[in-house]
Amino acid sequence: MTTIIFITGANKGLGYETARRLTELGHTVALGARDPQRGEAAAGRLGVRFVPIDVTDDASVARAAADIEAHEGRVDTLINNAGITGRRVSAADLTGDDARQVFDTNVLSIVRVTHAFLPLLEKSDAPAVINVSSGMGSFTLTHDPDRVESTIAAPLYPASKAAVTMLTMQYAKALPGIRFNAADPGYTATDLNGHGGTQTVTEGTDAIVALATEPAAAGTGRFIDRSGPVPW
Ligand SMILES: NC(=O)c1ccc[n+]([C@@H]2O[C@H](COP(=O)([O-])OP(=O)(O)OC[C@H]3O[C@@H](n4cnc5c(N)ncnc54)[C@H](OP(=O)(O)O)[C@@H]3O)[C@@H](O)[C@H]2O)c1
Repeated sequence: MTTIIFITGANKGLGYETARRLTELGHTVALGARDPQRGEAAAGRLGVRFVPIDVTDDASVARAAADIEAHEGRVDTLINNAGITGRRVSAADLTGDDARQVFDTNVLSIVRVTHAFLPLLEKSDAPAVINVSSGMGSFTLTHDPDRVESTIAAPLYPASKAAVTMLTMQYAKALPGIRFNAADPGYTATDLNGHGGTQTVTEGTDAIVALATEPAAAGTGRFIDRSGPVPW
């Protein structure tokens, strides 16, 4: 049976590469993006269906779920990929509004989208949710002097990704009928970091693709990168 995969923020970067690779592997991908032009263009390049979704907007998320229900009828794998770093300003200049934007896009969105998509996931024989977190949200890696994650001081994005990983673990415990796992892409050249990342997008999507293609028995409540388990 074909696996039906929905990816948020898939018009570029890691989301787009994930859509490309999973389509190439023969899965049915619905490509989520907030901007109609960018979304249609990306979906057109891959020959997949575009689904408009702004993950910060309840009504938009509900419309996306209804759209998938009408077209694909279910979701086997939901990939919560959309994310932002927020404004690049010194920590002293960060405001409540900055925090609201980063947490709304990176964290609240996961609750919002997961909630709206649960009925579609429940129609799958092997439902899975993959949350794109980050090593920047790992307490261990951000304190390891040998890791690039320890060299960056940016309060909001790492805190939001720590929350993404914890949300994933708690959903995994609370909803054992669905596999919830988190992926750390690793430092990857995309618009998110002005293409300063050291990995290619193909390397950066290895963990996401592995979680999307592994057998259901692989388990729930895990946090992995392309080399294996990531410490929390
Ligand atoms: N690149 C890295 O080194 C790295 C490392 C660890 C984790 N990550 C995570 O990987 C994920 C993808 O990042 P990326 O590097 O591929 O960044 P990117 O190239 O900037 O792509 C981010 C995507 O998220 C979308 N997005 C942002 N806000 C949205 C919203 N409100 N609703 C819907 N879509 C929205 C963007 O859409 P627009 O084009 O419309 O802005 C874009 O498609 C993020 O969760 C990021 O935190 C990245």
